[in-house]
This record gives sequence, structure tokens and C-alpha cells, in this order.
Amino acid sequence: FLFAILFAIAAYLMGSVSFGVIVSKLFGLGDPRTYGSKNPGATNVLRSGHKAAAALTLLGDGFKGWLAVWLTQKFGAQFGLGDGAIALVALAVFLGHLWPVFFRFAGGKGVATLLGILIGINPWLGLATLATWLVVAYAFRYSSLAALIASVFAPFFYTLMEGPDVILLAIVVMSALLIYRHAKNIGNLLAGKESRIGAKKDGNK
Ligand code: G3P
Repeated sequence: FLFAILFAIAAYLMGSVSFGVIVSKLFGLGDPRTYGSKNPGATNVLRSGHKAAAALTLLGDGFKGWLAVWLTQKFGAQFGLGDGAIALVALAVFLGHLWPVFFRFAGGKGVATLLGILIGINPWLGLATLATWLVVAYAFRYSSLAALIASVFAPFFYTLMEGPDVILLAIVVMSALLIYRHAKNIGNLLAGKESRIGAKKDGNK
């Protein structure tokens, strides 16, 4: 159990590395928490107009989720860790992204990181969830709506592929947190005020 806690703490710290803020700083774009939706995520970094920075944010935030799960799968067994630890680590890296200790707990909404985590748990699960995101995003051009619908589908995909277990519980909790973090987006969507993918900085105040 001690090792599970240690892995989870490491995962939380990895999740706390906010690529939206770091990449933006590297490209001299300013803090994404000061413009657009004020979210340090790939969607909002794209509102700066810098596509490469947005892509790097997406990849970085996804990669850390994948890496935390992969490290636990790869080395956890040596410490007697199984599915329970994978569930805990997934939750921890996700929480780090949402409430990063390095960035005054002002983190993101968890879309890229959840996707990375799901790919780590089961690549087909990640792919199915990504495909859901892409279909909705292509059809409606709302990044948030795509994430909301994909996050509702993810637990069902997991149940179909792996059956119900402790990892499913972690996925349900992460999806619920993701939806909670999109409260403003849900309000904007219902009011018809949500900015579409590719809209610039002043599209979503
Ligand atoms: O990546 C989060 C996305 O679903 C919504 O982001 O910036 O439009 O609030 P944003």
C-alpha cells in the first residue's frame, strides 16, 4: 500500500506539470489563463492562434497521463501493485492536471490528460474515446461538447472491453470531474455562447 501511495504522489506531481502554461511561455504567447476561456488547455492555447503550441499542449498533457499509467503497469508489479494502484495513479495524475501544485492549483479541464490515461489503460479504449471526440468535434465544432460526450462514453467503452472493476470506478470519477470542470462551457453551450474550435481569443470571454 505504501508503494501505491508513492506511485500516486509521483503521478500527482507529473499531472501538475501544466503544458499549456509552459509551452505558451516557451513560445512567448502569454499565460493561457489570462485570455479566452482562461483555461490552460490545448483548445484555449489554439485561441492564441499558435497551432504548434496548441498541438504541443495536447501532446504534453496527454503524454503525462499515458506515462503515469504506463510506468505503473511496467514497474508496479515489482512492488506488488495491480489494478488498484493503476486506478489510483490514473486518478492522481488527473487530479494533478486539474489542481496542479506547481501552478497555484489553477489547472485544466482534463480532456487531453484523460485521453492519455485511457490510451495507457487500453489503447483501444483511448482510440474509441478519441474517435468519439473527433466525430462530435467535426460535427459541431465545439471542443467542450466533444469532450463532454466522449467522457460520458468512456466508462461504457471500458465496461464493454474490460468489464466492471476498480479501474472503471476511477474512469467514472475522472469523467465526473471533467464534466464538473466544464460547468462554464455547459452554461455557454446552453446559452449558445460557446466559442467554436478555431475561434480567436476574444471569441469566449
Ligand atoms: O480542453 C478543454 C475543452 O473541452 C474546453 O476548453 O478553453 O473551450 O474552455 P475551453
